[in-house]
Amino acid sequence: AIEETLVLVKPDGVARGLTGAILARIEAKGYALVDIRLVEPDRDLLAEHYAEHEGKPFYEPLLEFMMSGPSVAIRVAGNRVIEGFRSLAGTTDPTSAAPGTIRGDFGRDWGLAVQQNLVHGSDSPESAQRELGIWFD
Ligand code: CMP
Repeated sequence: AIEETLVLVKPDGVARGLTGAILARIEAKGYALVDIRLVEPDRDLLAEHYAEHEGKPFYEPLLEFMMSGPSVAIRVAGNRVIEGFRSLAGTTDPTSAAPGTIRGDFGRDWGLAVQQNLVHGSDSPESAQRELGIWFD
């Protein structure tokens, strides 16, 4: 079925000038860009987005990182795009993410408290609807 997902190019990806390369991979895969915006999220937005991680050791560093600069939020559509984008992104830890994925090709460990891993993709249809509402509405 046609799905929509939220993709974020996180502050490290934007700062490193990788937004275009990441968009190119999404388009080359055949997914449709439905909407796109540059967002400087405040703490309230991020607390909502990352509610499931509250209390984890990387939670505060994660919010600080996500407030360190703008992210590019993208509404992406296609059949099975939620699974498909997570496959394009690669696993969470960029050190071991497979080459050929966004994180595997462009990411690495910078020795920081938070894993800077360039992109976010929703992990289920429920998360996608929730997260698209947070970043777009
Ligand atoms: P993402 O999966 O998009 O959302 C949660 C983020 O927290 C994740 O990307 C990483 O940026 C970060 N993260 C997840 N696990 C860890 C960890 N064990 N240590 C540091 N940062 C993490």
